[in-house]
Amino acid sequence: MMELTHDHLPIHLTQLAQRYGHIYQLKCGNTCMVVLNSTEVIREALVKKWSDFAGRPLSFTGDVVSGGGRSISLGDYNDEWRAHRRLVHGALLRCCHDSLHGVIEKQGMHLCKVLKAYQGSAVDLSDDFTVAASNVITTLTFGKEYDKSSSELQELHNCLNEIVALWGSCWISALDSFPLLRKLPNPVFSHLMQEVTKRDNIIRKHLKDYKSQDNKPESTITGYFLQGLDTKNGVLLTDTHVHMATVDLLIGGTETTAALLNWTIAFLLHRPEVQNQVYEELCSVPEGHYPKYSERHKLPVLSALINEVLRLRPVAPLAVPHRAVRDSSIAGYYIPKNTVIIPNLFGAHHDPSVWTEPDSFKPERFLEGGGASPRALIPFGGGARLCLGESVAKMELFLFTAYLLRDFHFFPTDACLPDLRGVASVVLKVKAYKVIACPRPVHDN
Ligand code: HEM
Repeated sequence: MMELTHDHLPIHLTQLAQRYGHIYQLKCGNTCMVVLNSTEVIREALVKKWSDFAGRPLSFTGDVVSGGGRSISLGDYNDEWRAHRRLVHGALLRCCHDSLHGVIEKQGMHLCKVLKAYQGSAVDLSDDFTVAASNVITTLTFGKEYDKSSSELQELHNCLNEIVALWGSCWISALDSFPLLRKLPNPVFSHLMQEVTKRDNIIRKHLKDYKSQDNKPESTITGYFLQGLDTKNGVLLTDTHVHMATVDLLIGGTETTAALLNWTIAFLLHRPEVQNQVYEELCSVPEGHYPKYSERHKLPVLSALINEVLRLRPVAPLAVPHRAVRDSSIAGYYIPKNTVIIPNLFGAHHDPSVWTEPDSFKPERFLEGGGASPRALIPFGGGARLCLGESVAKMELFLFTAYLLRDFHFFPTDACLPDLRGVASVVLKVKAYKVIACPRPVHDN
């Protein structure tokens, strides 16, 4: 148990891998956990043997936050979950095809406008990144976007952030490992329950508002969900599934992307010459317009930058725990049914047998001749539980980063450079820092 209360768990588990190897076991109460620390063993479990390890741990607290296990992210692997994930995946694909690029472009432009209005003062951009990422998801789901000052948006994010933070706390995870503790009063658990009720009221209101509109926004995920609700292969999908999928997309799709943008600027402040290289590359895009996602092959330095930030700071550093649904093996070790599997993506991305100088920020490693292959990256997990928003996230990271670095030159404040160690919870975030965004010369669009 002590191993799991460490303040930066991904770093700690990675250090243990240096002592015990790419795969080792930890005991927590009655639960046996196996930690995987290299891309090779993670792929063996999640991709090659996906059907053995597609489960989620059976969890009292997970059930509380996921409407009785009816969310995509925390639901266990069964027919109902498969039908649910297929419905959400289909809706997301249709939406991405119809409108994603335009939705991100609009939020990217808006983000640049917000930054211009700061007129070169020192600011913490994390809330602006959260609003941009969140607006992509709320536009896709309900056809709705918010201003940073909107009380509705703030209420939603405060509540989702509280749930993620509380759910990651040891006061809550102890309830899974030591069932007797559930009989004792636990103020942290009561707080979690209150936030879950608040979250459900907000989402219920959004879905009700959406359904009551005469002219519903076209091609939204919610619209596609509602059309797809039916009995699928003998599984009945209901409004609860729509509700929990909305929660999944909002939680999965907001803080992750926002945290990665914040990390990108933080790393660039440490290596200003990389920022200049990306800017020069962006200026070479035909006629100086904002690049399209389809033009990413023309921007290798920008792509290398994004890969390097995803490598160094995979924002879901320990993914979400998996569970062996039957007896199996990994790297030749016997793994009994119900073993909890922790894919240490952070560890895999710092593996010295794969990456030279694994702790250094060197986007050039991903350029031709740099020696690193993006195939060794695994920031979105893999297999049956692959991040549902991977394609949304990749387009967002590319377009937002391109817009920001084309329109602004970022400078550190006099105070100091950002601390790059990070604050690890479910999402790995950079410690709050301020930055100065100076507009670049105007381009003809
Ligand atoms: C799951 C990473 C953005 C929705 C995950 C997992 C990881 C991950 C590592 C766990 C995979 C596993 O269990 O093995 C990331 C990163 C992102 C990102 C690095 C951005 C940089 C998004 C976005 C969305 C999203 C934008 C929504 C549009 C989800 C959902 C799951 C998930 C619903 C649960 C999948 C399941 O259990 O089947 N993500 N994610 N994520 N992510 Fe993402």
